[in-house]
Amino acid sequence: MHDDERVLLVGGGGREHAIARAVARSDATLFACASNRNPGIAALAADVELLEETSPEAVAAYAESIGATAAVVGPETPLEAGVSDALDAVGIYAFAPGAAEARIETDKQFQRDFLDEHGIAGNPDYATFDDTEAACAYIDEYDGDLAVKPAGLTGGKGVRVIGDQVTPAEAKQYLRDSEYDRVVLEERLVGEEFTVQAFVADGDLRVTPAVQDHKRAYEGDEGPNTGGMGSYSAATPDLPFMERAEYDAAVDIMQSVVAALPDYKGVLYGQFMLTAEGPKIVEFNARFGDPEAMNTLPVLETSFIDVVTAARDGKPLPELSFASQATVCKYAVPDGYPTNPEAGARVQVDETVINRVNEAHGSSADVNLFYASVDAREDGIYTTTSRSFAVVGRAGTIAEAEAIVDETLAEAGTEGLRVRHDIGKSDLVQRRIDHMRRLRGQAE
Ligand code: AMP
Ligand code: GLY
Repeated sequence: MHDDERVLLVGGGGREHAIARAVARSDATLFACASNRNPGIAALAADVELLEETSPEAVAAYAESIGATAAVVGPETPLEAGVSDALDAVGIYAFAPGAAEARIETDKQFQRDFLDEHGIAGNPDYATFDDTEAACAYIDEYDGDLAVKPAGLTGGKGVRVIGDQVTPAEAKQYLRDSEYDRVVLEERLVGEEFTVQAFVADGDLRVTPAVQDHKRAYEGDEGPNTGGMGSYSAATPDLPFMERAEYDAAVDIMQSVVAALPDYKGVLYGQFMLTAEGPKIVEFNARFGDPEAMNTLPVLETSFIDVVTAARDGKPLPELSFASQATVCKYAVPDGYPTNPEAGARVQVDETVINRVNEAHGSSADVNLFYASVDAREDGIYTTTSRSFAVVGRAGTIAEAEAIVDETLAEAGTEGLRVRHDIGKSDLVQRRIDHMRRLRGQAE
């Protein structure tokens, strides 16, 4: 029973709408604060406060004013700003790492050095530079392709991979043009990417099923990187292109990170590249993924608030159970996103459409709608220049979960919006399987 719990959620995107739903499924009372107004979260919360979500003082003051008993922080920027520390300082337990622990995400140099110092498996070859010309010289000398990363946060858009997105000359030009203070250059990992998210407190780790995100803006993995265009998960912990032992190897890596970070609490997000030699570390984040949270939380059968309160009360985290369902998440983004987004299109997908599709499907498959960045006006919901909303399907297989998402989008119409229809379709999933077979030297 959690009817005495008053849970504050910080952040207002699609990921946070999924967290809000997970909180609302328990009998806890939800409060929310963010710098934008998310109509999906507002419909679930007892109160919503518009504030600067990277201001520790503003968030802590609001948390005190509503008598919060726990808090959950969605995005990385409040973590970097010390929002979790500020909540803890006023006696409100934040299920989120403090700024020091969040450096595993917020400082990529710290991340690589930390993994290296602790001898954690799967850390690629890397070097860090605070001098652009020295970095350019390293690109010239290095035997192989490199990924070029600014050390600080860039919303997932700062990385350039030589041999994939750019040539060595373009990578050097990028470094010279952008004038980053510090950059990390690391061995280019080749394979298929996947995400494993885990709940962490007091050295305990509870993992969730693997998810594959799609960062490229256009179908067929073309175009610039985005915050993520959509993602899928299988009805099992692993994904179709991997062996269960490879998922387990990724979990072992996360376990060793947690062992090396005893004060870590909240969600730990591991981004891995499945290579022919097994999973290697692309990066760690200190929070749920967006979109990945929208795959994971809808199939989490354990109460999310049971996890948060166990962490707060110093109890072992509960074992997690998940529905044996695959999920597919597709973001609808404004036309022109991410380079030249055009705001102001009226969003046609709403709960009426969602309910109609769900009624037509009985219990075999269903869809959920998660709002991200939208503008709720008197006469409807309109797009901004960021990702607008996500539709997430759940079903027995990835293909069925994909079909119900596209059916929902087609029924409502997506004028003024763009969707990667290929995410979760059998063709694209098969391409991932074939890619891994090729890398492993197996017949396709
Ligand atoms: P990050 O901001 O670290 O998540 O990187 C964004 C994206 O860049 C990742 O999802 C990968 O697709 C790609 N990337 C990052 N590091 C590497 C690497 N070492 N090798 C290949 N691709 C990478
Ligand atoms: N989906 C990528 C991220 O949340 O960082």
